[in-house]
Amino acid sequence: MIRLERVEKVFKVRRRVGRLRRVRTEVRAVDGISFDIARGEMVGYIGPNGAGKSTTIKMLTGILVPSGGRVRVAGIDPARERTRVARRIGVVFGQRTTLWWDLPLRDSYELVRRLYRVPDARYDRNLARCVELLDLGPLLDVPVRQLSLGQRMRGDIAAALLHDPEVLYLDEPTIGLDVVSKAKVRGFLREVNDGGTTVLLTTHDLTDIEQLCTRVMVIDHGRLVHDGDLAGLHGAGDSERTLVVDFERELPPVRIAGARPVKVEGPRQWLAFPASASAAPLVAELAACYPLVDLSVREPAIEDVIARMYAGRAAL
Ligand SMILES: Nc1ncnc2c1ncn2[C@@H]1O[C@H](COP(=O)(O)OP(=O)(O)OP(=O)(O)O)[C@@H](O)[C@H]1O
Ligand SMILES: [Mg+2]
Repeated sequence: MIRLERVEKVFKVRRRVGRLRRVRTEVRAVDGISFDIARGEMVGYIGPNGAGKSTTIKMLTGILVPSGGRVRVAGIDPARERTRVARRIGVVFGQRTTLWWDLPLRDSYELVRRLYRVPDARYDRNLARCVELLDLGPLLDVPVRQLSLGQRMRGDIAAALLHDPEVLYLDEPTIGLDVVSKAKVRGFLREVNDGGTTVLLTTHDLTDIEQLCTRVMVIDHGRLVHDGDLAGLHGAGDSERTLVVDFERELPPVRIAGARPVKVEGPRQWLAFPASASAAPLVAELAACYPLVDLSVREPAIEDVIARMYAGRAAL
């Protein structure tokens, strides 16, 4: 459904040096990215600030023309046939709205309907579904500028889906949303994807990814550094699990082979060990040599894995 072959985007920028001089430099925002997304997939697209995520999405919509490589969406070159591709895709940029600021939501949707020439029956059905699942009923007659961020975001997501796109790009659709709104949006996106829509999801909230995507691509400095499942991501980040151990009394940090003392708080201690290793021998040794009361194993938080991955690459 989406195919990128060695895609590049280079921005030429003029940077001030000192008071008067300006130099031309190049920013390689996307630096030779290739991937394939099959129809019906829901793929996470993550990476640190400035990694090139939004630039990629803009090339997939035809807003930006690649500097090199080949982009195909539903077989169409978006940069050359922007209107044709627009009928097949929906886009949500969480950072800015595509709705008409002064119009009530309902009127914005009406404009979308005419713009895309959505047949009446289909429009009514799609709108009814979005209104129900995204709780838009009370908001339809409110001007967009009076909506809260979370309300507006839900409004934007609905607008992107009224013309039944086969592909949906979401660039930070949960930014700034409270936990309840996030859950609502995630539930809705899952349903959209279950209906067969291909989804590319960019987010800094890794819970979005954990709950929605089996496949995740990580981009850094314009390059794809991981493409696989979440489990693979844990492996790629040299992740660690943690033993949380309660002793009968306060002890100096315990030293056992294969684990690293992380923290001591009264009688409780934290020991890190490689996520790929078994906890059993560690537990056996602790039980044999120390006055053990209780113990639990904590899985690595996806945040930590990603943070280590970004930091590790920055150090290269
Ligand atoms: N129009 C532009 N002109 C010049 N440089 C740009 C332009 N758009 C983006 N860039 C640069 O390209 C790089 C990638 O930007 P991009 O917006 O794709 O990052 P991102 O991964 O979406 O980051 P974020 O998580 O902060 O949204 C950055 O270094 C950015 O400064
Ligand atoms: Mg961005």
